[in-house]
Amino acid sequence: MVAPAKILVVDDEEQIAQLLAGILRSDGHHAEYVTDGEAALARLREGGFDLLMTDLRMPRMDGMRLIREAKGVDPEVDALVMTAYASTDTAVSALRTGVTDYISKPFGLEQVRESIGKALRAREERRRRKEEVSATREENLRLRADQRRAYVGIVATLIEAVEAKDRFNKGHSRRVAELAVRFARHLSLPRRELDLLETGAKLHDIGKIGVPEEILNKPGKLTTEEFDVIKAHPVIGEQILRPLEFLADARPIVRHHHERWDGAGYPDGLRGAEIPRPAAILSVCDAYDALTSDRPYRSGLPAKEALAILEKGAGTQWHPDLVQQFEAL
Ligand SMILES: [Fe+2]
Repeated sequence: MVAPAKILVVDDEEQIAQLLAGILRSDGHHAEYVTDGEAALARLREGGFDLLMTDLRMPRMDGMRLIREAKGVDPEVDALVMTAYASTDTAVSALRTGVTDYISKPFGLEQVRESIGKALRAREERRRRKEEVSATREENLRLRADQRRAYVGIVATLIEAVEAKDRFNKGHSRRVAELAVRFARHLSLPRRELDLLETGAKLHDIGKIGVPEEILNKPGKLTTEEFDVIKAHPVIGEQILRPLEFLADARPIVRHHHERWDGAGYPDGLRGAEIPRPAAILSVCDAYDALTSDRPYRSGLPAKEALAILEKGAGTQWHPDLVQQFEAL
């Protein structure tokens, strides 16, 4: 037995249409009938039909045209053709139009039931397969998100361990990530961008793993050579992440977090709107945390002074609108 379906019968001979609809109803289906194509399309537009059973030869609109237009109205509806004039030509053209089966007139009840059963089972199978595909896709997305979270967690721990060795950098990436999330909320960024920014913030200094500790923690002024080594960290960071396809969207943030609005930053000297926006947002948060933290050569600045420095650098070092928004935050 097949599950009950909603079926529309179309035949210009009203008695046949009525009889067929009656039989289908007694079989447990919800069946309606109309006697021409226009009326059929009007019913289909209201939606919810599984199956269209139509005569081929009808005045005004023939069955083939009705099926073509019906598919335009509801691509999911299946079509059965009933005809007294079956020929190879009509069969081929019917199949091309997406007809599921063919019933030749005069028809026996068993033939009708069999064709409907076949059409509805095929329909059920198609629906099931579609659900499977979408379930698999969701599962993949979920796995990918899990994988990403797990990896970011591991790397964040690693970065914290590296930062912990240096009392001046201790907790820097974690604080920048927290600040970036608050800033993203203030900017009303959509959830996806907020998550991306948080990930990028946690990972932004991952490249410092490749910078020797004695340079990272040097108390005095750095030589040009030492500064060049430090300046390599965004590129090293991006290279570390390169094999991880599920973090591809975070790579530009890591690479460009030291670019400057006026183009004098590194590694690529991007300027203004060329800098990816998440990287520009991060750069403000990164600077604020650096300014308010203790450094080998000075203690952390109070918020007010740090903001004054950001304001001074708005339009040269940082995105002017973002600095303004940050101050508002
Ligand atoms: Fe950095």
